[in-house]
Amino acid sequence: MAKALQKNIQIIRQCIVKFLSGTALFLFNYMCIIILGFSCKGEIKVEIIKTNFAVIGCSGRGSSMMRELSTIPGVNIVAVCDIFEDRAKKGAEIIKDATGKEPDIYIDYKELLARKDISAVLCCTTWITHSRIAIDTMKAGKNVAIEVGGAASIEECWQMVRTSEETGKFCMLLENCCYCRDELAIFNMCRQGVLGEIVHVQGGYEHDLRKEIGNGREIRHGRIHNFMNRNGELYPTHELAPLGKLLRINRGNRFVSLTSMASKAVGLHEWILKEKGKDYDLADFNFTQGDVVTTMIKCAHGETVVLVHDCTLPRPYSRNARVQGTKGIWMEDNDSIYLDDDHKNHHEWEPFEPFRDKYEHPLWIEYYNKGVRSGHEGIDYLVLCAFVESAMYNLAPPIDVYDTAVYMSITCLSEQSIAMGSMPVPVPDFTNGRWIDREPFRRGKYCLEEVCHEFFENENMEENE
Ligand SMILES: NC(=O)c1ccc[n+]([C@@H]2O[C@H](COP(=O)([O-])OP(=O)(O)OC[C@H]3O[C@@H](n4cnc5c(N)ncnc54)[C@H](O)[C@@H]3O)[C@@H](O)[C@H]2O)c1
Repeated sequence: MAKALQKNIQIIRQCIVKFLSGTALFLFNYMCIIILGFSCKGEIKVEIIKTNFAVIGCSGRGSSMMRELSTIPGVNIVAVCDIFEDRAKKGAEIIKDATGKEPDIYIDYKELLARKDISAVLCCTTWITHSRIAIDTMKAGKNVAIEVGGAASIEECWQMVRTSEETGKFCMLLENCCYCRDELAIFNMCRQGVLGEIVHVQGGYEHDLRKEIGNGREIRHGRIHNFMNRNGELYPTHELAPLGKLLRINRGNRFVSLTSMASKAVGLHEWILKEKGKDYDLADFNFTQGDVVTTMIKCAHGETVVLVHDCTLPRPYSRNARVQGTKGIWMEDNDSIYLDDDHKNHHEWEPFEPFRDKYEHPLWIEYYNKGVRSGHEGIDYLVLCAFVESAMYNLAPPIDVYDTAVYMSITCLSEQSIAMGSMPVPVPDFTNGRWIDREPFRRGKYCLEEVCHEFFENENMEENE
């Protein structure tokens, strides 16, 4: 009896501690949100907290991202890492040139993670190393952002989710395409209901990468090994993440199942024969990755999503986005729109530009006024700002671990579907049921759930006029 009473007291005590620490965390986050909100309106100047960052992966992408990252106020890059020493040294030089301070160099990322003075890590390694490094980073008590790519297994996605939940650290997929000008204008239009109820969306990663993949071993690039051994939707997130946000995935909606089909794989073989000759050791290699992989995803609320992966045939670049609702349709490839109400001629598209101007996202209005940076037409800087804001104040990122897991999972699920003759496969619910009733999202400039007008000076100025 006494033992039971003691146990009950212990449980109650634990509950009180949990409640108090949860409340404290909630209040802290809420205060930061308010301060950030005011600061964006220019009413209160928020203090920039100098924050130590590290970068793991210093090849092409890592180099360009660390250069941008180093220019964001408050960011202090104290360490860089790559398994290739020459690349790590080059990364350190980039930071020294940009900031005058040389970061420490690491070959083993675990040694870097052991440092106590680093708050957040930017991971720009290969597709099959991102999640492992993200998990280790969160376990080391640091927030992490990972470059884009698909998952190799569902298990790694669950590990990312569970580690984030257990450590309280975030893992943000650095999907720069969520901050594209057109995508954000369409997002703004959709949230205002201009396209009506959304029924179908599609997108692709349609990028002739034969040279990069075909020269993969010579340039020590990670992509080639995937094309030699895998067959699936290898790179879904550029198009899928903006569409997923539009469809409120993980917040009232979710991907339920998918089916995938791959064409034959002949593009790389032909390119290698032409460019490298029949004596090249991969001249007869049987690449497994189909030239065109098409994936179809069904959502809980009935929307359909079509993704196309197309990287080994000649073609101009496109993300082939299309958003279709009950009142109209937008298509990226012909940069045009068609709205039910506006049209007299039912067979003609209208140019999208005037609509983009009318529905420009306030983030882009502000960005234009301040000066758009380089790096994929400015979107690299925006996604890094979103990451830094979350890391600096320890706030929920706009692309959280549930988003990261589900977008990345499409890759290995499509591989499974193709391996089974295009059988439908279920998409896991990484929120464990919470997608029907999640905690409120964090509002802010970089928010991808809604357009948070209250955070933009330009809009408030207009209101005041
Ligand atoms: N968002 C974009 O617009 C965009 C553009 C280009 C590339 N990317 C993505 O960025 C990532 C990197 O691209 P990349 O072209 O630089 O690839 P890459 O293969 O050239 O470089 C990856 C680097 O990571 C390093 N690395 C691998 N494992 C490591 C480990 N365990 N520890 C430390 N370093 C490790 C490699 O040595 C290499 O230098 C990829 O996921 C790619 O898809 C995104």
